Amino acid sequence: MPRQAHLWRGVIEEYREWLPVTPQTPVISLGEGGTPLVHSGWLSGIVHGDVWLKVEGNNPTGSFKDRGMTAAISVACGEGAKAVVCASTGNTSASMTAYAAHAGLTPIVLVPHGKIAAGKMAQAVMCGATVIQLNGGFDQCLQVARDLADQYPVALVNSVNPVRIQGQKTASFEIVDVLGEAPDLHVLPVGNAGNISAYWLGYREYAEAGISQNTPAMWGFQAEGAAPFVLGHPIEHPETLATAIRIGNPASWHLAVAARDDSAGRIHAVTDQQILSAQRELASREGVFVEPASAAGVAGLLNSAAEVERGATVVITVTGHGLKDTETALSGVDSIVDSVIEPDVHAAAQVAGLV
Ligand code: F0G
Repeated sequence: MPRQAHLWRGVIEEYREWLPVTPQTPVISLGEGGTPLVHSGWLSGIVHGDVWLKVEGNNPTGSFKDRGMTAAISVACGEGAKAVVCASTGNTSASMTAYAAHAGLTPIVLVPHGKIAAGKMAQAVMCGATVIQLNGGFDQCLQVARDLADQYPVALVNSVNPVRIQGQKTASFEIVDVLGEAPDLHVLPVGNAGNISAYWLGYREYAEAGISQNTPAMWGFQAEGAAPFVLGHPIEHPETLATAIRIGNPASWHLAVAARDDSAGRIHAVTDQQILSAQRELASREGVFVEPASAAGVAGLLNSAAEVERGATVVITVTGHGLKDTETALSGVDSIVDSVIEPDVHAAAQVAGLV
């Protein structure tokens, strides 16, 4: 008898009863979700608790966006959409384009000119998107995307589309399902603020249903040059090398503030230097290579380690894969190759420090 395979079916089939789909909704899935929860001995030691990494770079297009996108594209298809549009700092566009290609929809993406990591741009191009680069930032892209959807026959799938948040909340469900209880603290980067809102929704729904007894404090971290929540107002010219979270006027402002305040949480800032250093340490200490924005939560936890209660269970969402932006990752490295030698075993042993 062959062993029974346990195939993860994607977040819609795994969590169907929690999502705004009907039996008639076509399920457009690339097998997203079911991502690893990796224990970090390094961070656990620093906070004197148990720290887990929710590795969202393992999703089909390499970021957490796929959870919301399977839901949004499926619903859009069910409603008869032929074309979809989004504004993006790169990951939403990579995700939307892949799901649109799978569904046979026409994808249109609006991105800030020259501010998208090469890997993300390649994803959108390869999946057949019309890529429009805009002279402006993400916030201006979102305005144009909204206007396009208002005035032309194209469906908007940014996280202002509530179906996106619904799909993304499944990450909280997975965490509780695996740990058996909600963590004490959930840490994640904040940009347009859809994800912190989605996690909080998921944790609340599981608690209200009695599946978990508690909800975590939500700790969000923004890049210092793009930290409207920390300043308390939108900013016109956000700047950070973590381009994924280079956003000055987050769309889910009220939802994120509610997540922060209702959970007795916080949204603080970290510097670009702290982000790069956390990115490097996470890769070299745990083998988890994430993109710069994804390291913001790790940088934030390191800054605030002394404020974490001893023995706490902490989950950090690392949102996107490091391979999306190798240029920024390597920008802080002096030389990619340590040594160039002739093909000789002794020479190799010598430079490897084995002799
Ligand atoms: N981390 C990564 C890797 C992201 O791509 C984003 C957002 C965030 C964190 C922040 O999440 O916006 O829900 O607060 N990227 C969007 C995009 C804006 O267009 O790909 P958020």
